[in-house]
Amino acid sequence: MKGLFLMGAGILGVGRYLPEKIIENKAFEKMMDTSDEWIKSRTGIEERRFADNDIDTSHMAFYAASEAIKDANIQADEIDLILVATVTPDRAFPSVACMIQEQLGAKRAAAMDISAACSGFIYGMATADQFITNNIYKKVLVVGVEKLSKITNWKDRNTAVLFGDGAGAVVMGVVSEGRGILAFELGADGSGGKHLYNNDEHHIVMNGREVFKFAVRQMGESCINVLSKAGLEKEEVNFLIPHQANIRIMEAARERLELPLEKMSKVVHKYGNTSSSSIPIALVEELEAGHIKDDDVIVMVGFGGGLTWGGIALRWGK
Ligand code: ACO
Repeated sequence: MKGLFLMGAGILGVGRYLPEKIIENKAFEKMMDTSDEWIKSRTGIEERRFADNDIDTSHMAFYAASEAIKDANIQADEIDLILVATVTPDRAFPSVACMIQEQLGAKRAAAMDISAACSGFIYGMATADQFITNNIYKKVLVVGVEKLSKITNWKDRNTAVLFGDGAGAVVMGVVSEGRGILAFELGADGSGGKHLYNNDEHHIVMNGREVFKFAVRQMGESCINVLSKAGLEKEEVNFLIPHQANIRIMEAARERLELPLEKMSKVVHKYGNTSSSSIPIALVEELEAGHIKDDDVIVMVGFGGGLTWGGIALRWGK
């Protein structure tokens, strides 16, 4: 619990980018032994977006970040730090964060990428929170972005149907007392790395059953843990934004919090699993739909390769 700090770190602006190209489940029926019915019933996914060849990860990050900076009503050169969560950078270095630092004109900003797979955005927000609440930085840009289509094995039906491309971004800074991040939890279990990794051919390899079991357990645990750290009860949660990997995993987290259906964000049917970008993309969509209002308690929770996990309890508003 953040008893020591009166100053809260919260979200000042949001943005997202989704490629225009929509790929429906039916497209996979021509490529592999699968069906629209299987994908929908086992994952909740109906379609996803894939970026064209000339749009790389840094381009999507730039578009989402530009929107978030505009929404926060700040200038790029006010940003002190850029954190980009991604497992699909354009290249090993320079980082995507450095690439967009130049493109945005964020001349004063330090910049680095974070690699925590689908938990990356939560890791990024928790890191930003530390710099802000310790009064080191005032404005931190956190981006979650993935071009998973470039590391997908199109011959592997176990993984190919799951993923999509996209980006989401937030500008974080000081918000009024009682608002912003109330508590977070980050975790990792390196012994589970063998269940989900990028192989020597740069393709995603996954033991779906193992990841599923881990995710169902950990998503619920993290939700409960962040609420307890924040000194909140389940009944005080207004909205849950889980990592959008699989509707069955998301439902398990919702049930653990005993929340009604309409209090959980669901965009997995439209975008598939977009890894680091799924939570900020879902956040933007829920804000646009008017589902989140000032002083609402939001829980964001994710899991991913590593294995990693992370949760945040946040009171909405500037
Ligand atoms: N179409 C048809 N059949 C399929 C497909 C497909 N696309 N994929 C797998 N199957 C088959 C399997 O081969 C298996 O057949 P078998 O029984 O003959 O062996 C059968 O379906 C059932 O397989 P299960 O693994 O038991 O299916 P399950 O209901 O668990 O769903 C899924 C599989 C969707 C992958 C699920 O396990 C899951 O969601 N796991 C978690 C994945 C995830 O969220 N990963 C996120 C990390 S991403 C990141 O960090 C980058």
